[in-house]
Amino acid sequence: MTQKPELLYLDLMKKTLSFALWPEPAIPIATFNADRTPVGRFVASTITQVMAVGNLQIAKQRNIPEKKRAEGRIWPGYADTMIGSKRLDNLQSCIETVLREGVQGDLIETGVWRGGACIFMRAVLAAYNVEDRRVFVADSFEGLPRPDAEKYPADKDDSLYKHPFLAVSREQVENNFRKYGLLDDQVVFLKGWFKDTLPRAPIQKLSILRLDGDMYESTMDALNNLYPKLSKGGFCIIDDYALPTCASAVSDFRSKHGIDAAIEKIDWTGCYWRKA
Ligand SMILES: C[S@@+](CC[C@H](N)C(=O)[O-])C[C@H]1O[C@@H](n2cnc3c(N)ncnc32)[C@H](O)[C@@H]1O
Repeated sequence: MTQKPELLYLDLMKKTLSFALWPEPAIPIATFNADRTPVGRFVASTITQVMAVGNLQIAKQRNIPEKKRAEGRIWPGYADTMIGSKRLDNLQSCIETVLREGVQGDLIETGVWRGGACIFMRAVLAAYNVEDRRVFVADSFEGLPRPDAEKYPADKDDSLYKHPFLAVSREQVENNFRKYGLLDDQVVFLKGWFKDTLPRAPIQKLSILRLDGDMYESTMDALNNLYPKLSKGGFCIIDDYALPTCASAVSDFRSKHGIDAAIEKIDWTGCYWRKA
């Protein structure tokens, strides 16, 4: 087997970032407290606090089928990204294409969680010695916003803001970049709600626009503010097309701007199109 070192590195990065090299270990029981009743939450938190005194913890083995994990259908306990192997492969292939074809511009993900997909973007640039493109890392670092049902009726029943599991601090994401030796001045953090950060983001041109903010509002804010900056031939990648909220924002935006580039399917939820 002779594989180029950069491809071997990127393959290892994808497996490591998605924790695919190891079975999913048990997860501390308080991790998914948001899904419990108030009583269940109280019991789980109390047990957790008492046991912590003796440096002990109770953890739950979730027994998730490997296929589900690889397809990015779960909220993983230990991985740095939840997007699964096909969407990571797609990201690599989109970046390799813009590099090969000279499509100008930086890279951005809106909605980064633990940062894994952005870390991978930086890794692809490093693998090909690209020093003149940046990776923008846009997130509240506090989870999702409460729905603004008046402005975005599609979001009215969205409850993702209730999940502390989706709130990962900027410090933790920076540390994750550091773990892989990839935190440098080619990585730019945009902390805050998309509606506040994206209109004034210091971005001139993009070649990769990756949207992973789940909600109608989050998807629309990213498209409105960033799609005009995407170069011709650049990729617009949508992680959450299986969510009706996200899909309707994509469809409204495309209709309003007469975008008819074919939507290519990546897997059960990911899709993309190239800007014509
Ligand atoms: C599903 S997670 C992203 C998963 C990530 N791309 C990965 O590789 O695993 C969604 C993220 O979007 C962020 N988010 C969603 N809507 C947002 C908004 N309007 N403003 C800022 N951050 C937002 C949340 O904080 C969360 O980190």
